[in-house]
Formats: sequence, structure tokens, C-alpha cells
Amino acid sequence: MEIRYVLILLRFIVFFFCFFVVIVHGAQDQKSTMLELAKGIPSSKWNTSNSNPCEWKGVSCSSSRVTGLVLSGFGLSTSFSPRFFELLCDLSSLQSLDLSSNSFSIIPTSFFSCKGLSRLKYLNLSCNGLTGRLSNFSEFSALETLDLSFNNLKGVVGLNLNGLAQLKSLNLSSNLFNDNIPALKAMKLEELSLSNNSFHGEIPHVFVTFENLTFLDFSQNSLTGSIPIGNLSKLQKLLLSSNQLEGSLPVSLSKIKALSIFAAIQNKFNGSIYSSWNHFLRAVF
Ligand SMILES: *[C@@H]1O[C@H](CO)[C@@H](O)[C@H](O)[C@H]1NC(C)=O
Ligand SMILES: *[C@@H]1O[C@H](CO)[C@@H](O)[C@H](O)[C@H]1NC(C)=O
Ligand SMILES: *[C@@H]1O[C@H](CO)[C@@H](O)[C@H](O)[C@H]1NC(C)=O
Ligand SMILES: *[C@@H]1O[C@H](CO)[C@@H](O)[C@H](O)[C@H]1NC(C)=O
Ligand SMILES: *[C@@H]1O[C@H](CO)[C@@H](O)[C@H](O)[C@H]1NC(C)=O
Ligand SMILES: *[C@@H]1O[C@H](CO)[C@@H](O)[C@H](O)[C@H]1NC(C)=O
Ligand SMILES: *[C@@H]1O[C@H](CO)[C@@H](O)[C@H](O)[C@H]1NC(C)=O
Ligand SMILES: *[C@@H]1O[C@H](CO)[C@@H](O)[C@H](O)[C@H]1NC(C)=O
Repeated sequence: MEIRYVLILLRFIVFFFCFFVVIVHGAQDQKSTMLELAKGIPSSKWNTSNSNPCEWKGVSCSSSRVTGLVLSGFGLSTSFSPRFFELLCDLSSLQSLDLSSNSFSIIPTSFFSCKGLSRLKYLNLSCNGLTGRLSNFSEFSALETLDLSFNNLKGVVGLNLNGLAQLKSLNLSSNLFNDNIPALKAMKLEELSLSNNSFHGEIPHVFVTFENLTFLDFSQNSLTGSIPIGNLSKLQKLLLSSNQLEGSLPVSLSKIKALSIFAAIQNKFNGSIYSSWNHFLRAVF
């Protein structure tokens, strides 16, 4: 055989060996992280006598790398598992993380500067009793869904969510936010719920440009001014009840064919109600 072919063959062997080492090493690395994480998770939930973390409850994997964790209602808290969020940062393949219905009252600030979770698309922290102010989410630039509802987060939203350009669904409902409605930069937004907070001031005009919005819930706040919503052709549900909105309902609103649920009770609207409203499945004024 010519030496040329031997060299080519050798190169292939070395390449596949390296490839294999990287894959196996990555998976091994994650296995030790998962075993460490398991120390803070009740053994009734994660049974570590099974040596494959990908088979534990709520864990999904792809090529032995962890891509999803559904730990909703696992009884977790920061005091029970102090290194929990630090360890999560090492799971760089994670795309979906559901920590809803636990007792995390505080998330360590280091979690928000964790570069490891830049692939995360889904983060659910609803129903945790989270306290304090909203952190800066700019490192989570791939997030498409963020649910922080039913916590005790207070103060301003400000620019803390402005790095989330991919965001499609944002839920900040049932917290203690006391701010103007944030002028989000998430142009892909489809679902937004800010209900049951103390948002005040006028609804920013920028919302008219979120053309993919299907669900908008601003109810139970202290919003004033008129409704700027005019050209959201995909809007299906618009909930504005229990605010101090005033003026007349824009004609353009009645022309949104997709809109099937509209609630506006307990506001200060005046003027006429259009005959064209009758295409609504349910409209509450
Ligand atoms: C864990 O799994 C082993 C074997 O599959 C079983 O014997 C044991 O009872 C399980 N432990 C818990 C806490 O479920
Ligand atoms: C977040 O979790 C809660 C409780 O499990 C669930 O009701 C809610 O639908 C989830 N949010 C999203 C956006 O999936
Ligand atoms: C959030 O963090 C990013 C990156 O560190 C920074 O550029 C941005 O100004 C911060 N935003 C706020 C509101 O602090
Ligand atoms: C928060 O809002 C999103 C989008 O509308 C919804 O899918 C989710 O179920 C809500 N979360 C809870 C806990 O209701
Ligand atoms: C409103 O939010 C508070 C917590 O801030 C919660 O206790 C209450 O159940 C919420 N109300 C509704 C109607 O969701
Ligand atoms: C709305 O959705 C369409 C189809 O998914 C997409 O092409 C378009 O860029 C979106 N608009 C914005 C402002 O993100
Ligand atoms: C309203 O939406 C239509 C279709 O999406 C678009 O052609 C039109 O330019 C929009 N008008 C305004 C004022 O944004
Ligand atoms: C409706 O209220 C606005 C201010 O809130 C006022 O300027 C307007 O004259 C009112 N229109 C009618 C028909 O009462």
C-alpha cells in the first residue's frame, strides 16, 4: 500500500477517536454534575441506584446529554440544595428547565451571569414564592418562553428583559411589579401576561408593532390612558379588565377577525360600542 493511503487512514482513525473521546467525556462530565445535583433532590424523585441520569424522572437527553429537566413540584428549595443553580450552569446542553411549584425564594445572582445556559429556550419558575427584584436576563439570549408568574417579585422590570430577542411567551402575572409596562424589544412576542400586578401609566405604543401577538393580558393593574392596539391582526384574546383605561374603544379593534375574547370591565371607557363587535365569541365590557 502506498504510504499516502496509510496516512489518510491514520488521519481518519485519529479523527474518530477524538470525536468519540469528546462525546463520551462530555456525557461523563454531565453524569458527575447530575449525581451532584441529585444530592439536593429527594430520592423518591431521582433514584440514583439507576446509574443512567437520562432515565431519572423528568430528565430528557439527546446523545446522552441533558436537554430537559422537568422538576415541577419536587419540593426543592435553596436551603435544601444550596449548589443547585451553580450546578445547573454546567449543563450546557440544557434547552428546557421547569422549576415551577417549588420553594425557591431566592435565585443566586451568579445564575444570571452563568454563560453555560445560552441554549436555554424554556424557563418556568412560576409558583415559587420568589422575592426581591427582577434580575438581568441578558445571558439567556435564546429564551423563547419565560414564566415568572405567581411569585412575589417587586419593583421595576426596566430593561432587564431587553436582551431576550427570541422571546415568544412572557408571563409576569401575579407578582408585585410596580412599574410602567416595559417597552420590550421582543419582536417575536406571541403571548404576554402582566395581569394582577401594579403596572401603571399608559400602554406603550410599541405594542402595535408586535404583529404576532395572539394573547395579551393586562388585567388587574392600574393602567391609564386609551388603548393603542390597532393593527394586531393575529390577536385572539385581549384582557384589559380592572384598570383605569378611558376613552373610546378603537374601531380598528372591532375589525380584528381573529379576536374572539375581549374583556374590558371595570375601566372608564365611554363612547359607542360597535355593531361589528358581534363576531366575538365572548366580549365583556
Ligand atoms: C430505587 O430503585 C431500586 C431498583 O430499581 C429499588 O429497589 C429502590 O426501592 C428504589 N428506591 C426508591 C427510593 O424508590
Ligand atoms: C409553568 O408551570 C406551571 C405549573 O406547572 C404551568 O401551569 C404553566 O403552564 C407553565 N408555564 C408555561 C409557559 O408552560
Ligand atoms: C444586563 O446585562 C447586560 C450584559 O452584562 C448589559 O449590557 C445590560 O446593560 C444590563 N441591563 C441592565 C438593565 O442592567
Ligand atoms: C403564563 O402565561 C403563559 C402564556 O400565556 C401560559 O402558557 C402559562 O400557562 C401561564 N402560567 C401559569 C402558571 O398560568
Ligand atoms: C394575584 O396575585 C397575588 C399574589 O401577588 C395572589 O395571591 C392572588 O391569588 C392573585 N390573584 C389572582 C386572581 O390570580
Ligand atoms: C411573525 O411571524 C412570522 C411567521 O412566523 C415571521 O416571519 C415574522 O418575522 C414575525 N414577525 C416579527 C415581528 O417577529
Ligand atoms: C397593519 O398590518 C397590515 C398587515 O399586516 C400592514 O400591511 C399595515 O402596514 C399595518 N399598518 C400599520 C399602521 O402598521
Ligand atoms: C370620553 O372620555 C374622554 C376622556 O376620558 C373625553 O375626552 C370624551 O369627551 C368622552 N367622550 C364621550 C362620548 O363621553
